[in-house]
Amino acid sequence: MFLMSLNTMSLFINAIFLFGLCLANAINFTTVYEWDKFDFFWPKGANSSYGQTEQSFNFSEVYFRYMAVDEKRLFLNLDPSPGIPATLVWLPKSGASTEPPKLSPFPSWDLHKNDNCDTIQEARGMKADTDGRLWVLDQGSSHCLSKLWIFDLENNDTIERVHQFPDTVVSHSFDKRWLSDMVIDKTPDDDYLAYIADYRSEQIVVYYLKTNVSWPVKTPEFIWQSLAVSPNKEARQLLYLNRRSYSNKELYTVSVSELENEAGSAALRFIGNMTGIPYRMMIDSADVLYAAFYNQNNLSKWNISEPFLEQRFHEAAGVLRTGWPFAFALDANDTFWMMERNQSGNETKHKLLKAAVGAKDSAHSQP
Ligand SMILES: *[C@@H]1O[C@H](CO)[C@@H](O)[C@H](O)[C@H]1NC(C)=O
Ligand SMILES: *[C@@H]1O[C@H](CO)[C@@H](O)[C@H](O)[C@H]1NC(C)=O
Ligand SMILES: *[C@@H]1O[C@H](CO)[C@@H](O)[C@H](O)[C@H]1NC(C)=O
Ligand SMILES: *[C@@H]1O[C@H](CO)[C@@H](O)[C@H](O)[C@H]1NC(C)=O
Ligand SMILES: *[C@@H]1O[C@H](CO)[C@@H](O)[C@H](O)[C@H]1NC(C)=O
Ligand SMILES: *[C@@H]1O[C@H](CO)[C@@H](O)[C@H](O)[C@H]1NC(C)=O
Ligand SMILES: *[C@@H]1O[C@H](CO)[C@@H](O)[C@H](O)[C@H]1NC(C)=O
Ligand SMILES: *[C@@H]1O[C@H](CO)[C@@H](O)[C@H](O)[C@H]1NC(C)=O
Ligand SMILES: *[C@@H]1O[C@H](CO)[C@@H](O)[C@H](O)[C@H]1NC(C)=O
Ligand SMILES: *[C@@H]1O[C@H](CO)[C@@H](O)[C@H](O)[C@H]1NC(C)=O
Ligand SMILES: *[C@@H]1O[C@H](CO)[C@@H](O)[C@H](O)[C@H]1NC(C)=O
Repeated sequence: MFLMSLNTMSLFINAIFLFGLCLANAINFTTVYEWDKFDFFWPKGANSSYGQTEQSFNFSEVYFRYMAVDEKRLFLNLDPSPGIPATLVWLPKSGASTEPPKLSPFPSWDLHKNDNCDTIQEARGMKADTDGRLWVLDQGSSHCLSKLWIFDLENNDTIERVHQFPDTVVSHSFDKRWLSDMVIDKTPDDDYLAYIADYRSEQIVVYYLKTNVSWPVKTPEFIWQSLAVSPNKEARQLLYLNRRSYSNKELYTVSVSELENEAGSAALRFIGNMTGIPYRMMIDSADVLYAAFYNQNNLSKWNISEPFLEQRFHEAAGVLRTGWPFAFALDANDTFWMMERNQSGNETKHKLLKAAVGAKDSAHSQP
């Protein structure tokens, strides 16, 4: 009896503690748009070569996977499926109307053609840099190779660079590669490096913008799935989720400086086990890491300047029935943008949310 009541009491105290934690850490999101269903801006003209695509479009197959943001637009990657005409689309961040906007292919319909290897086959990760570029990782297809596309958002979305990975960097055999994430890092001399996770290889892929060269940094026995890089120049570190087995939730870090040289090798440091398997992570200007987990409708954060401690900051009622309910990104002003998929019964709704986070926001809230 005594033990039981002690247990009950500690459960009660735990509940209060968790509830307190939850309130203290909650981020107040504002709803920007809500969709009951999606549509595209289809090209004009009944005989357009996209007519077929318009007929087969199925809004129930819209699953957002990755997001990037610039000053005016949100870019989203969609899961490929027969009912999806483009895996890279954009939406305005705001508009005169409260009517939820339609999707537009990025940069144009012409760059989304099935089995045309001169076009984007399957976008699997994106980042917008602070110099007006959009970086897009393309897994390719069974007969198109993987590529990194770089677009100039300030010059009519023209293509600035297309880098096709050599076989020694990302396998040219379709079943030997599975690109799953990309982060970019601005170097002190204003150049950029991209770090790419290939879930089917024991290495990290690095691409250097200045020289247009990519190379692998071997990590024997370690494969990588989710990446986040700290924007903080003093402690530029990369965080990786390691997936040696399906249930593995181990979080590791590596110093970016160890990956910058082609002959480099990475010394991985174990940080801790996460509460779930994160499919998406990002770090804001105040060095707070945000993570979304497979099959979970709550999000966690951790201040990476402090010992490893995961704190819940968002829980969405009913948002589930998909492995990846959230897609998110930070813009240059530390606004946290998030697309939330809510599937309940036979209905699927999407919400675009935003909240102020990062150094600018803590400066506000801490007098
Ligand atoms: C969120 O909003 C509530 C109610 O307006 C407020 O009490 C709370 O302090 C806000 N939290 C944050 C982190 O801004
Ligand atoms: C569309 O195709 C139909 C049948 O092929 C043809 O009669 C019509 O002139 C075409 N319209 C345009 C605008 O090309
Ligand atoms: C659209 O996709 C959903 C989910 O995959 C499916 O249940 C439905 O039958 C599809 N609709 C059509 C018209 O193909
Ligand atoms: C950041 O805020 C400034 C001032 O409001 C604005 O001019 C700028 O476009 C914003 N940048 C982004 C990326 O939203
Ligand atoms: C931008 O691209 C669009 C579509 O390709 C084209 O119609 C337009 O003329 C271009 N504008 C400029 C300023 O290059
Ligand atoms: C960058 O590298 C790729 C090799 O994948 C090459 O095809 C392309 O022409 C290069 N671009 C520039 C601007 O050097
Ligand atoms: C982390 O999880 C692994 C299993 O994936 C386990 O072997 C290890 O002991 C855990 N480490 C800590 C510090 O909890
Ligand atoms: C997050 O949600 C999952 C199920 O959606 C639940 O099992 C887990 O306990 C939750 N985690 C926290 C910290 O609330
Ligand atoms: C993160 O931790 C550091 C060190 O304790 C602290 O100075 C900073 O204010 C924390 N940042 C946030 C956003 O809480
Ligand atoms: C998800 O949809 C269900 C049913 O419409 C609703 O009860 C629930 O509040 C929604 N959740 C969110 C976070 O909007
Ligand atoms: C969803 O199911 C309910 C009852 O099963 C039905 O009344 C409703 O029309 C359905 N909604 C859609 C969008 O199919």
